[in-house]
Amino acid sequence: MLIVTDAFVKDQYASCVTENLKNVGFDVDLIEVPVGEESKSLEQLSRILDCLIGHKLDRSSTLIALGGGVVGDLGGFAASVYMRGISYVQIPTTLQAQVDASVGGKTAINHPKSKNLIGAFHQPKLVLIDVDTLKTLPRRDIQAGLIEVIKMGVIRDETLFGMVEDELESILDLHTPTLIEMIARACANKADIVSKDEKETGLRMVLNYGHTFGHALEALTHYKRYRHGEAVSIGMNCAAQLAVHLNMFFLTDFERQRTLLNRAKLPTTFPHDLSPEAMYDAMSLDKKSLGGKLRLILPVRIGEVVIRDDVTEKEIIHAITQCY
Ligand SMILES: NC(=O)c1ccc[n+]([C@@H]2O[C@H](COP(=O)([O-])OP(=O)(O)OC[C@H]3O[C@@H](n4cnc5c(N)ncnc54)[C@H](O)[C@@H]3O)[C@@H](O)[C@H]2O)c1
Ligand SMILES: [Zn+2]
Repeated sequence: MLIVTDAFVKDQYASCVTENLKNVGFDVDLIEVPVGEESKSLEQLSRILDCLIGHKLDRSSTLIALGGGVVGDLGGFAASVYMRGISYVQIPTTLQAQVDASVGGKTAINHPKSKNLIGAFHQPKLVLIDVDTLKTLPRRDIQAGLIEVIKMGVIRDETLFGMVEDELESILDLHTPTLIEMIARACANKADIVSKDEKETGLRMVLNYGHTFGHALEALTHYKRYRHGEAVSIGMNCAAQLAVHLNMFFLTDFERQRTLLNRAKLPTTFPHDLSPEAMYDAMSLDKKSLGGKLRLILPVRIGEVVIRDDVTEKEIIHAITQCY
């Protein structure tokens, strides 16, 4: 068994996981990668593969990804290619990874030209979530991770959205039973979507709500200024604004979403140093645009979205302009 973790998570949690596994008779090795997105690289993948080979792990072995989405994506990808695929377990320790990245079997590393360009679909055998690990996570990361729950609420689960509205303070205070209920519900939603459309040929695309805008914003700000969840928050606000403009989403629902995002201290407006045209160009480069057409996920009510590829450049730029 090989645990893949990052330098920070190793110090906090690796000894606990390692000791527990050793106590029940497992042979456990560990490899640590540097903290941060840069570790989703061929270099770190190669180190993990060397380690798997060096410790003579075989097809019956299991890899454990212990940490945030970076370690999950990298470890999962290593498990998918080693000996044409070995089992792996996700033990996510960030809210982002607990409610989103650890579930669904998307694994990947980055290419200098684009994020997540080299990857595979490989489902974990188990996702083990201990919400107590969130106690060491900075509050900004809790808020940013929460966006994927709010997103899930808007795309298909109004009850979940209402739960976040009602329990926001308990969630941000890391009240354990509330967190467990919320995270379990978010994961169940994601698992349901993925079980119906694992390879993202249709339904799974709804998970990209707010993300076409968000990815463009992250790329334009060189992945430095915003947490992923913060960029998606601005993206969701803009997608909702566009839906209002297209007369498919009530203004009251738009305001309900924006109010919750703002209460969660998530941003909803674009920075003034980026023009709407630059945003639109960056969105067009996003790999989810299809045959030159931008495919957008737009809300029709809290709890339902549709996929649209017929929205014009003018309409999109207009919506961005409304979100400064
Ligand atoms: N596979 C998917 O479906 C999917 C979905 C969404 C995002 N992702 C990927 O996930 C990655 C982002 O995930 P992330 O936000 O978890 O980033 P991350 O893994 O880089 O973790 C963020 C930071 O938190 C630290 N950390 C982890 N657990 C901690 C804890 N319990 N307490 C304190 N600090 C802790 C890490 O060391 C790191 O510095 C991106 O690479 C993204 O592409 C994948
Ligand atoms: Zn996301």
